[in-house]
Formats: sequence, structure tokens, C-alpha cells
Amino acid sequence: MLSGIAHKVTASAPGKLVILGEHAVVYGRPCIVTAVGQRLFVTATPIDKPVLELSAPDVGLEAYSKPFAKLGTGEVPKAAAFVEGALKTFLQHHPLRGGVRLETRSEFSSQYGFGSSSASAVCAIRALGGLIGLAMPPREVFDLSFRTVRDIQKTGSGVDVAAAVYGGTLVYEMEGRRLEALPVTPPLVVGYTGIKADTVTLLKEVAARAEREPESVEAIYIGIEALVEQGIAAIKKKDWKALGEVMNHNQALLETLGVSSAVLDALIAAARGAGATGAKLSGAGRGDCMLALAATKKHAVEGAIAKAGGHVIEVALGVDGVRLEA
Ligand code: MEV
Repeated sequence: MLSGIAHKVTASAPGKLVILGEHAVVYGRPCIVTAVGQRLFVTATPIDKPVLELSAPDVGLEAYSKPFAKLGTGEVPKAAAFVEGALKTFLQHHPLRGGVRLETRSEFSSQYGFGSSSASAVCAIRALGGLIGLAMPPREVFDLSFRTVRDIQKTGSGVDVAAAVYGGTLVYEMEGRRLEALPVTPPLVVGYTGIKADTVTLLKEVAARAEREPESVEAIYIGIEALVEQGIAAIKKKDWKALGEVMNHNQALLETLGVSSAVLDALIAAARGAGATGAKLSGAGRGDCMLALAATKKHAVEGAIAKAGGHVIEVALGVDGVRLEA
């Protein structure tokens, strides 16, 4: 065992759901995001040689290894990319003596759109810091993780990274320029469509549309920004009627942007029909999850989503951000 290094460190981070403002956030507008109470874990164990050994059985990766000198080069399987990238970024700032074995485990499916890739990068950075006894303020974990995710995806706002690092329910702007913890989390029901959204493809599609029709897409983003500000005020006042209306308007703008789908529309209509004060897609769209605001009639709303073919995910919201596990 190497001296001055912990034997084994586990970090965990939550997944995320965007409450308001997706897509517009990629273009500098604010959004509201909440951390979901299903977590991703990365365990780091020191090894002697300067090599990464990685296993991520939840995403079908076993016994993967890469010398430190070759990190980020050659064939990097998708399942390894974010953890390998996180290690590469970390080593640019904090040298490790020897190498490291990293194991990931997730409480949630990577199909849900909860941001498992970003959460794995965040956990890897925090676990590596823990291994060499670094206190690591959240801002440093955010900056290193955001850089990792941007290097790999070349796009995205970093909202998943922010939720994984800071937890709670947050107002977020690109690169962490605005980070404001909200004092309450709205009473939301989460419905999964059963369809995995391809965020990067959708972001490219939206960007192409903005090239063709810059004025109409800009008008959508301006509308979403105004709704997010109204949503922040409604959440602070626990005014669920107002928040529901804001969610419905945000959904209408996302439909105009072209990122909703028949399945999402059906789950949203079912939730509203059963008494949800508002409902909308969450995240990239075309699949993943929808959210319904149900301060009352929660069971009726859940039943209606299930009857319409959705899978209700029972999950706490506004939970803790990244932490080291005992
Ligand atoms: C995806 O969860 C949210 C998007 O706004 C993309 C991003 O912010 O990176 C669609």
C-alpha cells in the first residue's frame, strides 16, 4: 500500500431532473434543476502501477484498463469515457503516486436521463480527491467535472454536473455563472416514457433549427427565460398553481421547439387530466422523463401516468449533492 493514500474511498452523487428551462440553458438562459434521490457511486482503490483499472458492471464494462500515459487516447468505450476523462482531468491538477482502480455502481438506470455520465465524472473526481486527502470545495469538483464533460460531449450546459455536485433544487446558468439554492422543492411526480433520449443528437438538431430560424428559436428562449424567473418566484412562495401554469407554458414552448413527442404528450395530458396543476417533459425531450406537479391528487396523477403507459419513478427530490461515503 502506498503511504499517505487512503485504502479505499467511495463517493456518491445524485441524478438530476430539470424542472424548467432545458435547452434554453445551453444558450445562456437560467434553468431550475433538482437532484434526485437515486445515486451513483464510484469507489477508488490505489494500485501500484500508474494504470487505470475500471469496472462499471451496470453499463456492461468489466476489467477495462489503460496506462495513465494513454488516458483519453485510442478506443475509449462509451461506458468508460466519463470516468476515464475525469481521471485525466484530475491528474492535470493533482498527481497521484501509483495508479487507481475505479468501480462504478448506480441506483438508477442510465436510460432515465438522470445524467448518469455527469454523475459518474463528479463521483470519480471526488473519490480521487478523497484518496489523497483533498478537502475539495464544491466549486473545484464542479469545474473539473464540467471540463471533463465538455471535453467529451463538446456541448451541454453542465446542469447535470451542477445537480450532482451541489444537490438540492437549484437555479443554474451555464458554467455555473448562476448557482442559487432554492429553499423548497416542488411536489413533483416523475413519469418515465420507456424511451432513452439521445441528448447530444437533440442538441445538434435544435442548434441546426436555430441556424435556419434564428429569430423564432431566440423568441422561444426569451419566453423560456421569463417563465424560469416566474417559476423561481412561484417556488419561493410555494405557489403551486402559478408554478403549474409556468410548467404548462414551458411545455408549450418546448413543443414549438420540436423536442416533445407523442409519448411525452400522452403522459402529460393524462397527468393534467387527473388533476396535476402542471406537467412538462424534463431534460432533452423525445423520451426520458416527464414531471407532473401534484401538491394534491398525487395518487390519481400517478395512476393516470401509469394507465397512459408511463412508468412512475418513486424518488425523493432535492437531495444532497456529491459526498464521500463512510
Ligand atoms: C438535458 O438534461 C438538459 C438540456 O438542456 C441539455 C443541457 O443543458 O446540457 C437539454
